[in-house]
Amino acid sequence: MSLDLAIIGGTGLYNFPGLENVEKRAVDTPFGAPSGAVVLGKLGDKRVAFLARHGENHSLAPHRVNYRANLWALHHLGARRIVGVNAVGGIRADMGPRVLAVPDQIIDYTHGRFDSFCDVAGAKVEHVDFSEPYSADLRAALLAAARRAGIVAVDGGCYGATQGPRLETRAEIARMRHDGCDLVGMTGMPEAALARELGINYACLALVANWAAGCGDATTISLPEIFANLEATTSQVPPIIAALLAV
Ligand code: HPA
Repeated sequence: MSLDLAIIGGTGLYNFPGLENVEKRAVDTPFGAPSGAVVLGKLGDKRVAFLARHGENHSLAPHRVNYRANLWALHHLGARRIVGVNAVGGIRADMGPRVLAVPDQIIDYTHGRFDSFCDVAGAKVEHVDFSEPYSADLRAALLAAARRAGIVAVDGGCYGATQGPRLETRAEIARMRHDGCDLVGMTGMPEAALARELGINYACLALVANWAAGCGDATTISLPEIFANLEATTSQVPPIIAALLAV
């Protein structure tokens, strides 16, 4: 069986509107259980899989997500292209709340996560090239799809992946800005690296929910504002995905 696309939904995206002929598939993996059953369905004539990264009821914190099981399950079901949708905070001046971005680089600040399929007894250690952490083809296709859908998405940017679940301090964000991060989120890694290990073309569609700590005018981050911004940006995901699949 092959899939035209798999989507991993982040905070605010727990199911995919418009999916038809839906079937829920529980997949048993060598790495334990994925975040939930994979939803298989059709968007037009294209076969699509959807998985809610944090579980359907957002019960899994970023450091508790079984990224290996999620990627393994999608690969097992035939996914060769995955779009990861991630809520993020904005650091760079043009990456404020409600901006959509397709980052092209990553810095990983997470720790203690199972971040490789090689990390099991007897596995052959493979060193994958990760100079360009996202698929150039899928990034370009996503950006073109956004354009066709009439939605502005910023091309590029560095995604800094933090451990969470707490948000960052101003000093941490200042350090990340200095490091070259433009966006900050908690789930971009190890997802991207695991996709690369499996040979999956993976790209991130980042939805900016708030200014990262110390970046906007506010001295604190408002959680209700995060959710309002996410609701607005999440509604733009289905038309982008529809345009991506239309070619
Ligand atoms: N930091 C980390 N992750 C996030 C943020 C943030 O400010 N906003 C949404 N996800």
